[in-house]
Amino acid sequence: MSLNAQTIASDLAAALSAIAGANTLDELKEVKSKFVGDKSAIAKANQGLGGLEPAQRAELGKVIGAARAEINQSFSERERILTEIRDAKVLLEERVDVTLPTHRVNRGGLHPLTILTHEISDLFVGLGYTVAEGPELESGWLNFDALNIPADHPARTMQDTFFIEPLESGLVMRTHTSPVQVRTMLDRKPPIYVICPGRTYRADELDATHTPVFNQVEGLVIDKGITMAHLKGTLDFFAAKMFGPEVTTRIRPSFFPFTEPSAEVDFFYKGRWVEWGGCGMVNPKVLQACGIDTDEYSGFAFGMGLERTLMVRHGIADMHDIVEGDVRFSRAFGTGHR
Ligand code: FA5
Ligand code: MG
Repeated sequence: MSLNAQTIASDLAAALSAIAGANTLDELKEVKSKFVGDKSAIAKANQGLGGLEPAQRAELGKVIGAARAEINQSFSERERILTEIRDAKVLLEERVDVTLPTHRVNRGGLHPLTILTHEISDLFVGLGYTVAEGPELESGWLNFDALNIPADHPARTMQDTFFIEPLESGLVMRTHTSPVQVRTMLDRKPPIYVICPGRTYRADELDATHTPVFNQVEGLVIDKGITMAHLKGTLDFFAAKMFGPEVTTRIRPSFFPFTEPSAEVDFFYKGRWVEWGGCGMVNPKVLQACGIDTDEYSGFAFGMGLERTLMVRHGIADMHDIVEGDVRFSRAFGTGHR
């Protein structure tokens, strides 16, 4: 194609009309590659200058330079306008009417007791324990006999235990999480480090500090050379994580048929001692019933009430709040967390 003022003028006209005809930024982009960029007719004309006589080159060079400047300016101007139009459109189309009525659905959440259960499990898993589980409908043998609880023990009376009919079934609603100790020892060989949170049942009236369905968390450790000092250290750690580093715990001589010696665990909270649970060194009779060599192994166990833990930790005055399922209570714990 011959290079002269006329073809340049027509290239310029074509570019300007294409630019003017672009109605969106996308269209303009196509126009750019075709009429403005390095492959455009005007750019090629510029490259063709090299083959011309110096005088002609100077003259046409000016014409091409002016044409390119005009194209670039026209392009920028069109780009500015189309960008403005696009932005205005986005603002309009993507506008959010914050005054519209909402249909807000409350997010479901875990009950504070469940959250606490997870927290305690995580805590002990962090110490190398595993989580053990057992059924809530339990055999009387595991709930009582294997734990060295004699047939005439007061806990075995109708006032304390929910027995399942027919009575010959030998089934009870477990009165504590301690049968899981036996299940674990029958199932695994030492060393054993388990934590077992779970629901428990007793024929107690619902009052400010008791409920017939409550939760306990059982801990069991069986290993070589385990002493009461390990138990106390573990309880101190547990209490500090539950109630803060300033909490003090004490163990008080007590009696459980399945531990020897046995103790109640209390912690000092807001100026008074609160019973938290029971604990002790696992009674050798229980170890033997589970086939564990008492010359080689010893262990400790503890069982705490979770409702009591929650009450003390969060200043809940009445057990009713925990068990009645009113979401106004649960909400304060941040439903939806965890
Ligand atoms: C026991 O249940 C033993 N199994 C604990 C144990 C485990 C001792 C391992 C030794 C070794 P106790 O009956 O004291 O012990 O109950 C333990 C805790 O459960 C109590 O301290 C209390 O926090 C909680 N608890 C008991 N009954 C109720 C109830 N009706 N409502 C709410 N919490 C209860
Ligand atoms: Mg007790």
